[in-house]
Amino acid sequence: MAEFDPHDPRFVSDGVPFDVLARIRAEEPIYRTPKGAWYLSRYEDVAAALTDVDTFRADLGPITGIPAGVDAIPPEQHYLSEIEEPRHKAIRRLITASMSSARLKAVEPVLREECGRLVDAMLAKPIANLHDDYAMAIPAFAMSRIMDLDDAAAEAFMRWSEDGTLMQRPATPGVPPEGPSSHVFFSAYLVHQRALERPSNDLMALLLDAKIEGEPLSDAEIVTQLHFMIQAGVHTTRSLLAHLVNRLVQDADIWAALAADRSLIANFVEESLRRDSPVQRTTRQCTRDTVFGGVAIGKGAWVEMGIGSANHDERLIEEGGAFRLDRREPRKHLAFGAGSHVCPGAGLARMEAQIAVETLIDRLDRLETIEGETYPPLPGSLGHQPIPARLFEREG
Ligand code: HEM
Repeated sequence: MAEFDPHDPRFVSDGVPFDVLARIRAEEPIYRTPKGAWYLSRYEDVAAALTDVDTFRADLGPITGIPAGVDAIPPEQHYLSEIEEPRHKAIRRLITASMSSARLKAVEPVLREECGRLVDAMLAKPIANLHDDYAMAIPAFAMSRIMDLDDAAAEAFMRWSEDGTLMQRPATPGVPPEGPSSHVFFSAYLVHQRALERPSNDLMALLLDAKIEGEPLSDAEIVTQLHFMIQAGVHTTRSLLAHLVNRLVQDADIWAALAADRSLIANFVEESLRRDSPVQRTTRQCTRDTVFGGVAIGKGAWVEMGIGSANHDERLIEEGGAFRLDRREPRKHLAFGAGSHVCPGAGLARMEAQIAVETLIDRLDRLETIEGETYPPLPGSLGHQPIPARLFEREG
């Protein structure tokens, strides 16, 4: 069996080794990684473990520079994913309210206008970079408007996505006690909102007014969740949009199919979420000794939910490695997780992707690759590689 390290940074430049994952699914579906974690590779196992939150607790400690995990992190710095019931449900309700369908409806026209503006700016350049000029800009803008914030916030969100700020907490070694710059920004904003007779920002009003078991949330806890909304919503959607534009620029047949039938755009987005899942894996820590799929997993063991592999599982998905616009059940995938922690931002991410692709198809005749340039692999996951292209405006 070839070695597979789910955290291998080379996946960003070289692509995910789906052939190795297919062998793991066939030969050792609950795979012991070289670092001693368990990697779940099959769809049904990943779905079952994601749903069993009492046994498998989300732990983003290691990816935020805290290898000991969530128990070594002060509770007010726990991200929504890491909070246990019943508190999780109470806080999740607040976050979900900020992305209600009414809120999405209100943001939609502004987002459409912004995508149009970004296309105008790219058309003015001889060669545009679809990553920086489009895929990166849209989620930051959308998130700023969902949070009722301005362009300066959108710029900060983009910067934090690129410079690693989003992967830090106050408890991360080397970070000053006041926290990463995102914490400083949101703390100052909360102080400003609190000083008003009534907060002018609806999301802040909701968070400041909320009471859980009769107690308000502390500022530190509110700031943690605002930071996490950016981490969970900007990074990931940037990745999805980068995959979509990367595919569009390289595959003229897909472009032609979408231009001929815009109703296929929703399938295009779902197939990208499945085939090129932006979140390839998420990490859990096992809370008790258990036997899962016939394998004994001890308390404290790290367990990786192999979402990227699950979404290629030949047991449920025909030709999982292929990219097809005609899947009968396009939403049969785990790209947004499963169970009580399933992504509350899925509707927002889908709306951003739909509008971003529609705008390109509506405004452009075609996109062309630039000779001699290297394009990132699909999925390129958390990479920030450029996607250079020449844009040709649609006539008339
Ligand atoms: C393509 C874009 C996105 C993808 C692929 C994605 C994926 C995911 C996944 C896989 C989870 C579950 C994580 C786990 O159980 O370990 C999750 C949770 C979450 N996502 Fe997303 N997400 C996306 C966009 C967004 C957006 C736009 C937001 C907006 C704020 C968001 C906010 C969250 C939050 C707050 C959670 C934690 C929910 C909880 O623990 O109850 N995500 N996301």
